[in-house]
Amino acid sequence: MATSKKPTTLSGIQPSGKLHIGNYLGALKNFVELQNEYQGFYMVADLHALTEDIDPKERLAQTLEIAAAFIAAGLNQKKSVLFVQSFVPAHVELGWIFTTLLPVAALERMTQYKDKAARQTKNVNAGLLTYPALMAADILLYQPPVVPVGDDQAQHLELTRLVAKKFNQRYGDTFVLPKALHTRIPRLMSLADPTRKMSKSEPTGCLFLDDTPQVIEKKIKRAVTDTSSAPTKEMSAGVKNLFLILEACGDKKNHNALTAAYQKGTLRYSELKEKVADATSKELAPYQKRYKDVIENKAALKRVLTDGAKRAAHAADTTLKNVKERMGILLS
Ligand code: AMP
Ligand code: TRP
Repeated sequence: MATSKKPTTLSGIQPSGKLHIGNYLGALKNFVELQNEYQGFYMVADLHALTEDIDPKERLAQTLEIAAAFIAAGLNQKKSVLFVQSFVPAHVELGWIFTTLLPVAALERMTQYKDKAARQTKNVNAGLLTYPALMAADILLYQPPVVPVGDDQAQHLELTRLVAKKFNQRYGDTFVLPKALHTRIPRLMSLADPTRKMSKSEPTGCLFLDDTPQVIEKKIKRAVTDTSSAPTKEMSAGVKNLFLILEACGDKKNHNALTAAYQKGTLRYSELKEKVADATSKELAPYQKRYKDVIENKAALKRVLTDGAKRAAHAADTTLKNVKERMGILLS
């Protein structure tokens, strides 16, 4: 059981499509780096993914793929708890409770809701709207002071704090108010349009975690650098993005040399791109190898998730019991 005295942390990723390097550098890598300092709870957010149009035949496969990605990135089950959201019923229970505290107007203001409702016009389901209540439950069940996510989750975290505050005011101090914890890259931009974040909804701008070195090279060669014809003093968003990837992939030497060249005005973008492609392929190689090993051993993966669900439920049920007592919905 999770009996560690360390502060807790929790994060989740939806099983709805392939992971890209933005997910990796903005979130997954952070999960791994935090595991010595925090008691981590990491989940595959399969209940959240029900709000999207996904073929039911693919659901389980996608859930296992995300779970494998967590392990391939370096999550260690001795230190962290890895589980699937739907295996721990407390999430849904507390999620419902939170829908009774969140104002509809606040939910309607969420950009993710508006974006998704505009994208899947034939399926604007109520779950898309109440999504933040479930996400607040995911988080608050584990009482984490920090939540490692990319900055696209800022609004969700704000609503999580709002619901925690409302609960505390109405039923007495119960929840700590969690804060987002970002990496050096809280928002990696799209290679195709560096004014927008890299997102699986626009695959042409993504480097996927299963891309081969050849594909990575091709995509980075095509990445948008400068759109203005005259050189400007300010580094363009596309070039900045490439430098960020180089730095995050650990190639300090070339990062320093190419930054100096940029400052002198002698940088060739073709050279920058070559180094970024190399560094990315090198960074992903061990991940890709581990991923292959993990996904090929489904029985072991399922065991990790079954055990993780037990450990997560133990922590979550303790919080839920306390919540129910305070609300007057538990016989003692
Ligand atoms: P999702 O695939 O939308 O469930 O996202 C999983 C995690 O990756 C979340 O913590 C996101 O904030 C993070 N993330 C998604 N896109 C990016 C990006 N372009 N840059 C940095 N982090 C990201
Ligand atoms: N909303 C997150 C995303 O789209 C996924 C998520 C669900 C999550 N529950 C969470 C992230 C709890 C952090 C904490 O990326």
